[in-house]
Amino acid sequence: MNINFKELANKYQTPYYVYDFDHITKQYNELKSAFNARKSLVSYAVKANSNLSVIKHLAQQGAGADCVSIGEVKRALKVGIAPYKIIFSGVGKIDDEIRQALELDILMINVESEAELERVDSISKELGKEARISVRVNPNIDPKTHPYISTGLHENKFGVDIDTAKRMYIKCKNSENLDAVGIHLHIGSQLTELEPIKESVKIVADLVRNLKAINMDISFFDVGGGLGIVYDDEKLIDTNEYAQMILEALFGLDITIVCEPGRFLVGNAGTFVTKVLYEKVNGDKRFVIVDGAMNDLIRPALYNASHKLEVLDRTEDVSDCNLVGPICESGDFFAKNVDLPKTEHNDLVAIYSTGAYCFTMSSNYNTRGKVAEIAYENGEDRLIRKRETFEDLIALEEDYLK
Ligand code: LLP
Repeated sequence: MNINFKELANKYQTPYYVYDFDHITKQYNELKSAFNARKSLVSYAVKANSNLSVIKHLAQQGAGADCVSIGEVKRALKVGIAPYKIIFSGVGKIDDEIRQALELDILMINVESEAELERVDSISKELGKEARISVRVNPNIDPKTHPYISTGLHENKFGVDIDTAKRMYIKCKNSENLDAVGIHLHIGSQLTELEPIKESVKIVADLVRNLKAINMDISFFDVGGGLGIVYDDEKLIDTNEYAQMILEALFGLDITIVCEPGRFLVGNAGTFVTKVLYEKVNGDKRFVIVDGAMNDLIRPALYNASHKLEVLDRTEDVSDCNLVGPICESGDFFAKNVDLPKTEHNDLVAIYSTGAYCFTMSSNYNTRGKVAEIAYENGEDRLIRKRETFEDLIALEEDYLK
């Protein structure tokens, strides 16, 4: 990545996100080619970064989409992802979302409870359709990641245990309106160890074999997302080993492998660039205050996540400080107790690995407009979402003023 952050700051103002689209392509190709030996579908987890241009870029590489709301499904369709490459997951789908998903004829709905299966059954009956579904199995394996992004233990709200899953498949077998085409698991995000995924895949592959024994042929094995990226100095799962492990677990089964990576595809492609406003010292604590804030990038506040960062063009007078935003909350920080050089008004700070779950988790807290998003591809930059204005922020309210 050779992006001139200063030039972009002059052109688009700060704060902004810039995404290196060539990196996204490289990540996609790496994963897709790891599965070369088998029929596979890489369905991008849209929630990681749902900018239309990002989804479109992945669509052009051949990606499908893993969606968790009908809004995400519509984003994917809008940029040309074929319905047969779209999956709809999530523990709490609204009736209307299920109805629309069925009408749009997407690849499958990942069902996460018996109660949801009942709803899908009766809605598809109403519509005179057969719903293609998969069941999300919760293998009860500790994925060894942050508790907020861990999903594969029974104590988490996701999926169903093996016995419930079996009952659900039997129900599908006996229903005219349910076609069980897939099986699904996803044990957590930012995974850096292969072993928990391996154990989980084995458990679910055994279930597929049991289902086959009762003449239920499952066509899609969805291993979820979760592949970690480097934020700091993490040791990552090798994608070839990952793919190999899945291929081995599925040996002898004629099944298409689906995976749903989000962070892996876009995380390291993004940089958040913010401008220094002031420095101050309270007692003996130094603060560097920038124009970006927790509403733009909440991962440090929410998960205590650490992102590598750098003050551009400065190296002198390094000392300990907290890098904070202007919001009225002590949780409004990007880093605590980090060594940074002495800064001046208008210096730029780049916060790296912010392509996934950063813009998408941003908000308008403190009546701050969401920041601009920029794509960088083949040495050229282009705006892919303009900065929100005050008028944008009040647009849905002002007509209701009495
Ligand atoms: N599939 C399902 C069913 C998921 O729930 C998720 C993420 C993914 C795929 C994609 O996971 P990935 O490949 O990106 O790890 N906001 C958190 C991450 C939440 C992940 C939620 N589910 C963060 O900032 O770390």
